[in-house]
Amino acid sequence: MVFRDPTLNLAHTIEALLPEYRILADLYLEKTPEDQGFPFHTDFDSIGFMEHPEEMLTVWIPLTPVKEAGSGQLSIVMEEGAVRLSLIREANQLHSLVRIADPSVPEHPPFQITQQEYDYMEKGKVTPALDAGDALLFCNAFFHKSEDVYHGKRAAYIMRLVPKDAKFSKTRLLALRKLGQNLAVVEELLKTHYPEAL
Ligand SMILES: [Fe+2]
Repeated sequence: MVFRDPTLNLAHTIEALLPEYRILADLYLEKTPEDQGFPFHTDFDSIGFMEHPEEMLTVWIPLTPVKEAGSGQLSIVMEEGAVRLSLIREANQLHSLVRIADPSVPEHPPFQITQQEYDYMEKGKVTPALDAGDALLFCNAFFHKSEDVYHGKRAAYIMRLVPKDAKFSKTRLLALRKLGQNLAVVEELLKTHYPEAL
C-alpha cells in the first residue's frame, strides 16, 4: 500500500484536504491499446465493504498526461438519472453478496444497463483533461469508464477514501472474503470491526 509510505506524504495531504476521510486502499493500473477496459461501471463489486458503499470516494491520479482522445482519460457521469441507476446497481450487487453468505436467499436477475441507458451516459459524460500527477476526485455513485489508449501505456494510481465514521458491513465483508476479493483490506476490517467473525 503505497499511501503508507511516509515520504510520499499522501495520508497527510488527504488529511489536510478532506479531514473527514481516511485512505482505506489503493491500487496501480496500467492501460494499453490491447486493453478494452470496462464499459461504464461503478466500483461497488470489489470494494463494497460498507453499509453505504456510495459514500466511498475515489482519487484517480494519472501518472502520464491524459489530455486528448487516445490518452486514456477517465470519463465520469454526474447526471442524476445515472446516479439513481448506480444506486439500483449497488442494491443489486449487495443483494448478491447477501446470497453468498446465505445461499437460501433466492436469486434475483442480474443488473444490466440497457442501450438507451448507455447512450444517455455517453451523452452526459464529463472527460477532464489532466496532467500527470493531477487528481480527479469522484463519488462512488458516479458511473465512469476509462477511454481508449491508442499507443504506449497509460498508468494511474488510485486511492479509495472512506468517511472516518463509516459503518462497515459484516455480511458484505464475509461475502467478499469468500469471493477472495481485496483480501488484505477485508481481513484488516474484519479484525478491527468484527473480530468474533474470524
Ligand atoms: Fe472503476
